Amino acid sequence: MSGPILAIETSCDDSCAAVVADDGTVLSNVIASQGIHDRYGGVVPEIAARQHLHLLTPTIDTALEQAGLRLAQIERVAVTQGPGLIGALLIGVGQAKAIAAACSVPLVAVDHLQGHIAANFVEPDPFEPPFICLVASGGHTFLARVEDHASYETLGATLDDAAGEAFDKGARMLGLPFPGGPALEALAREGDETAFDFPTARNVKGFDFSFAGVKTSLLYMIADLGEDETERRRADLAASFQRAIVDALLTRLERALDASGLDRVAIGGGVAANGPLREKVEALGAVSHIPDRLLCTDNAAMIGVAARFLPDCSPDQALALDAYPSGSSR
Ligand SMILES: Nc1ncnc2c1ncn2[C@@H]1O[C@H](COP(=O)(O)OP(=O)(O)OP(=O)(O)O)[C@@H](O)[C@H]1O
Ligand SMILES: [Mg+2]
Repeated sequence: MSGPILAIETSCDDSCAAVVADDGTVLSNVIASQGIHDRYGGVVPEIAARQHLHLLTPTIDTALEQAGLRLAQIERVAVTQGPGLIGALLIGVGQAKAIAAACSVPLVAVDHLQGHIAANFVEPDPFEPPFICLVASGGHTFLARVEDHASYETLGATLDDAAGEAFDKGARMLGLPFPGGPALEALAREGDETAFDFPTARNVKGFDFSFAGVKTSLLYMIADLGEDETERRRADLAASFQRAIVDALLTRLERALDASGLDRVAIGGGVAANGPLREKVEALGAVSHIPDRLLCTDNAAMIGVAARFLPDCSPDQALALDAYPSGSSR
């Protein structure tokens, strides 16, 4: 273990920097949301990359300032290597390489999805493996068996859309702003979650997920209801749509828990910020760990905490480090 880690995360549209202390305490966790993508109804990769160029340096400065440290006191630099938008990732990787080289400190390459799991290792309330982790985000949805702090085994994953993508697309159909998850959750609070029956892909066996059906079903429901009735019943539609997604996630999580023989469960990724999902995971009866909402959506603290358990790049590896858009480098 060494001194403080400066962590950088630029896999999508949030420019993130954090400082994590030797013992895993988060000293600062700064997120500059680009905001600009709302008008396009989704993240525009080229714009995201250019925005990181503007936002990342001041975000790193703020993270250091809030941690009460100077760059010279940083002992490792951690960066998200992938998966994500390649242009956006390359801005973070380039910046991290430059800082590590200029400060003569090691670079640590972190997988973004390992980061979402590592949100559960944050002090002062770290969750110790082994456990089953549901990761549900904008680009991924999978169940992981976590036996140690540095890796995981994938038990099942979505066959089509990610849960966050389903939230975003459903929200868009209901005229809500991007990102749709938080807006849809807010609207759903005013609705009746039993008003409509949306499919939860129960026919998909094992630990895999499918969210294409629930999305199409909402589309047809809106067409059937017509404009006025859809407007009148927007909250009921949102609540029922949310229930279907949350139930689909819960069903697989319960299956995986039963099959694993473990009674420890955690969640991660942006959808883990969803209130009803958090409540239902807690109510499962297993020993559960639910990270702070700020640690569920993209942030650099989770990348710094993941880096505590990962090896440094050699100087040659650091110079040659490349980003990957999908999958993993492992
Ligand atoms: N309260 C919420 N309820 C439901 N979904 C939510 C909530 N808050 C955020 N989300 C969803 O989480 C997603 C963003 O999560 P995250 O930032 O982890 O995704 P990402 O980094 O874009 O994707 P990935 O991690 O797969 O690369 C969006 O789809 C957003 O709608
Ligand atoms: Mg993410």
